Amino acid sequence: MHKRLLFIVSVLLPVLLTGSQNKAALKDAFRNSFLIGAAINQNQFSEQDQRGVAIIATQFNSVTPENVLKWQSVHPQPDKYDFEGSDRYVAFGEKYHMFIIGHTLVWHNQTPSWVFQDDKGNQISRDSLLTRLRDHIQTVVGRYKGRIKGWDVVNEALSEDGTLRQTPWMKIIGEEYLTKAFQFAHEADPQAELYYNDYSLENEPKRKGAIELIKKLQAQGIPVAAVGLQGHDKLDWPTVQQQDATIADFAKIGIKVNITELDVDVLPSATQNRGADITLNVALQAQLNPYASGLPDSVQQQLATRYSALFKVFQKHRDVIDRVTFWGVTDRDSWLNNWPVRGRTSYPLLFDRNGQQKPAFDAVLSVATQN
Ligand code: GLA
Repeated sequence: MHKRLLFIVSVLLPVLLTGSQNKAALKDAFRNSFLIGAAINQNQFSEQDQRGVAIIATQFNSVTPENVLKWQSVHPQPDKYDFEGSDRYVAFGEKYHMFIIGHTLVWHNQTPSWVFQDDKGNQISRDSLLTRLRDHIQTVVGRYKGRIKGWDVVNEALSEDGTLRQTPWMKIIGEEYLTKAFQFAHEADPQAELYYNDYSLENEPKRKGAIELIKKLQAQGIPVAAVGLQGHDKLDWPTVQQQDATIADFAKIGIKVNITELDVDVLPSATQNRGADITLNVALQAQLNPYASGLPDSVQQQLATRYSALFKVFQKHRDVIDRVTFWGVTDRDSWLNNWPVRGRTSYPLLFDRNGQQKPAFDAVLSVATQN
């Protein structure tokens, strides 16, 4: 009863009284469902991008660092950690009372090659790599103990067929690198939530692999709090049914589900590959960049309808979803302007290049007020 009253006063009343000029904020509209997060960049957490900061402070209650906590940024050389960016990021999160996410401890991209090599360039031994992994995780997680509330411990360990991806981590350490990474993170901050994060888990073979992997970790007593579904979506993928089944399948194994990198790409597919492998790079051609001078209303509307459909599924599963995080704040910030083709004009988020709310914003907001 109390919650309901709070919802009416804080969300519905402002909308009804002030009309569209002063709409509810996303984080308030979904307060009884899940956190609403954004991945933020250097210009934002250092408060250069004031328009971005205003949107972040008003609309979101969780942040993820786009790059500064990736290995190459925070630990560029064997004996050198660089916490300048990440310290600012965490301070920014605290200043604006955000649920602060760490992204990411173990990945095969944006990780320097020295990590896997000795000073002569030869591959290091299993034990040496485990030592490096432990030092890295203890140093980084330990520094922000109690402040960063959740960590993407391992990012993208699976191939599309659901088998473990043959990364240097896998080749040198073997499957145990996953267990170890979670153990080291748990030792460094026993209170932090630990996540497994990946893309295309809506596709069945990969989803099965993830479920198997998480069950194995659970059987070893590893506290996996949630799976992160990155959510780099298209207008037609994943289907509503796939999205729904994916969340339900992970909920069945007793973990939470977070949507961690949500965006909806409206541009033509540049490759057959529909994943989110960041190493792809396709040459720019005019037909791959059809909306360079603006998004037609019809596509704007398709995007809004698509976001509404996705959020209806998220709302349905709000008991198992803790957080929905967008990968960027405005369309201008999105990685999709440069991936998998450099220099395109993309429209994947809820705020346009001028920081204005798009029809997709209203569509998402209206899902919150529907039930
Ligand atoms: C992956 C990673 C993110 C980011 C995006 C695209 O999904 O998890 O850190 O690099 O690719 O930018």
